[in-house]
Amino acid sequence: MRDTYMSQFSSVWSEEAKRDFRRTPIVVKHNYHEHNAFSDLSLAALLDRHPRDMIDFCTMGDDATDRDSWRAGDPGDLSGEALIDAVRHGKLWINIRHAMDTDDQYRPIFDAMLADMKRARPGFNPLLAEAGILISSPTAQVFLHSDVSETMLWHMRGVKRFRTYRPEAPYYDPQDMEAVLHKEQTEDIPFDPAWDADAYTVDLHPGMATNWPLHGPHRIENQSGLNVSVPFEISTPESRRQNAVIFANGFMRRHWGLNPSSIRVDGPVGFAKQMLTAGIKVKRKLFGMPAQVEPKSETTFEIDGKSDGGFIDQAA
Ligand SMILES: [Fe+2]
Repeated sequence: MRDTYMSQFSSVWSEEAKRDFRRTPIVVKHNYHEHNAFSDLSLAALLDRHPRDMIDFCTMGDDATDRDSWRAGDPGDLSGEALIDAVRHGKLWINIRHAMDTDDQYRPIFDAMLADMKRARPGFNPLLAEAGILISSPTAQVFLHSDVSETMLWHMRGVKRFRTYRPEAPYYDPQDMEAVLHKEQTEDIPFDPAWDADAYTVDLHPGMATNWPLHGPHRIENQSGLNVSVPFEISTPESRRQNAVIFANGFMRRHWGLNPSSIRVDGPVGFAKQMLTAGIKVKRKLFGMPAQVEPKSETTFEIDGKSDGGFIDQAA
């Protein structure tokens, strides 16, 4: 018998959403949240079978400007069911990295979503796409950050307030992205609450998805319920060119004492910067340059469903 279960899931894009995809923030409707893969039972089983070193366990404080309160924890040998319980009652954020693109149960959903995005905008050409699954507490937040790749956040369960700010001053400084691309800092960036007045804000309910322009800073505050969402990260020719230019700017700033400010991709200067980055990447491969340092991720707590917040601090 042919499996027709997947055929009932899809997304609905308005004419505006199709037109503005990747240019300005948009919202799309879908029904992937009704797939049984996003039930407690299925997610607990996924947590049990997914490699534990591919899952991040984090907590954070209440102040949206205190990004240093973000920290990593240790799940110990807790079962998937116990972990979901701790998230439901605590203040935790779990990222099951690559769950959507590597797990056999989730891959068909991933493929269907990616096909929806391509169908909505024929010029959209993903070179690489990946997606994890985020499971987070009713009061969790994610601090302001800019992702390296293009992104689309598909929301499945709970309610979260999503805000995005234009990728320009004062909300976004390309030099922060330079530092990320040069592996000197994480994607988190400074935040001023006054910027919220200028933000594109939407409360994401199950069955909604949102996309915003490349490098657009964004932050999330969960509103209620156990939150489950699927963040797509997509590398495209456009994101690669933009990142190559920003990487080159960072290289010239660090090694040649220059102070480039333009992030323009087109024109002879933009082209030369892309060639510079391509040359550096080839050289680093050929001559085995030393690996650069990733942002540290030492764990400072253990997940514990019986404690307030769903965790206990590790002894110093
Ligand atoms: Fe993000």
